[in-house]
This record gives sequence, C-alpha cells and structure tokens, in this order.
Amino acid sequence: MNEVGLVWLSECESTNDECRRRLDDPTLHAVASDHQTHGRGRRGRTWFSPRGDGLYLSIIIRPHFATSALTALPLLAGIVVAELVGALGKRAALKWPNDVLVDGKKVAGILCESLVSGERAVAIIGIGLNLREPVDGFPEGLHATALGTPVPAITLARVLTRRLLAHVDRLPVEDPLASVVHTWQQWSLPLGTPMRQASQAGTYAGLDREGSLRLLTDTSEVRIHSGEVELVALPPLPRETHAARD
Ligand code: BTN
Repeated sequence: MNEVGLVWLSECESTNDECRRRLDDPTLHAVASDHQTHGRGRRGRTWFSPRGDGLYLSIIIRPHFATSALTALPLLAGIVVAELVGALGKRAALKWPNDVLVDGKKVAGILCESLVSGERAVAIIGIGLNLREPVDGFPEGLHATALGTPVPAITLARVLTRRLLAHVDRLPVEDPLASVVHTWQQWSLPLGTPMRQASQAGTYAGLDREGSLRLLTDTSEVRIHSGEVELVALPPLPRETHAARD
C-alpha cells in the first residue's frame, strides 16, 4: 500500500468488489487495477476494462454528513474527474448524473455504491477512466473516447484518491449538496442541451437543490431523480435557414 492508502492489483474482478471485501482495513482508502475481469458499470452494465488501456479505481469514503446527502458523492466524484481531465488539457463536460465527456464522447464513468446501517454509511466510488484507445478500438456502441495522456495510471490514481478525499473532507455537515451542485453545474454540458429520458424529451435546465436534473419539455419542467439521460441530436436546420446563411 502506498502513502494515500492505495492498493494496486495486477488483475481483479472489480475494484469496487475488492474495496467491499477489504472494508475492515481502516488504512485502506482505494484499490486500483491494471485489468478487471468483471468490471461493472451503472444499471447492471459491464465496464469494458482491457489491461493497461484504462484506469480502474475505487475509493472508499466514510462520510461525516447525514446519509440523506450521500447523493453528493457521485456528483463530487464527477467534478474531481472533470478537473483532472481539464488539468490534462482536454475540455471536459459532465453529463448527468456523472459521465465525463470529451468532445461529446464518454471518457470516464462513475459507479457509486453505498452500504448504509442506521446513521452510518460507507460509500465506494468506482471510477473507470479510458486512458488509451484499445488497438482494436472501443466496442461498437460505446461512444467512448480516451484521454491519451502519457501520465502513468498510478499517478492519476494517487491524484484522484487524494483530491476526492480532500474534497469530501471539506464538505460542510449542513447541506453538503449545495456547494457540490453549484460546482457540478460549472462543469456541466451547456444549458439548453437537448436530452431525453425514455419518452420525455427536452432541454437541460440545470440541477435542483437535491441534484436532480431539470428538463424543460415543450409543456413543463420535469425533474429527473434517477437513471440517466440520453443526448439527443438536434434536428437538421430547415432548408430556408441554410439558404438564408449562404
Ligand atoms: C458507468 O457505467 O458509467 C460507471 C462505470 C464505472 C466503472 C468503474 S471501473 C472501477 C470500478 N470497478 C467497477 O467494477 N466499476 C467501477
């Protein structure tokens, strides 16, 4: 284990599961791996985890605030990853709830799992960051991109662990969500971005105080509390508009 309490494994099934297995160790803060054989994504999906092409990292958080504010953590993790991607020279944008996009494609995803017992909680924040495009490319349909950085994965893992733990420590006990929601919106896709969830389509109008997404449809404002949203391509401009521009 190194100075940030990070264990590096050559291979494991899932770094989130490794963290969960080792929760009794108070000195352990994070587990990372070169390769995951059963990397897990949100909503029961698989996380593509080829050896050496990505960072697979899970960080253990023992929050000092009420379990009702745990939703702050995945949003905060998105901010920390977006800050890192930005510091490495790429323009990062957050897509609710916590996908990190570069040029409209997903460069990182976050899977937050919490174990709650009464007023006490432990959260495991899993971060998958695409570092290099695999030789055979990403599997079809992933709509993914890679960071393409020469910085070693272990350095990125240390930085992310240190920064996420420091950000969590600084959150106020009272209403930790407020500051997270504020910063999250500074990294988000632009207001007005067309999005949909199932049959509800509209434009992105920011987050509410609870971190839910506000979607402006033709007729009303809808709050989306769970799941994810899909980006919708804008319809082509009408013919007259093209003509007017020419
Ligand atoms: C998503 O679906 O966008 C979330 C992906 C989270 C993947 C990471 S990789 C490290 C950690 N271990 C896992 O099994 N999943 C998360």
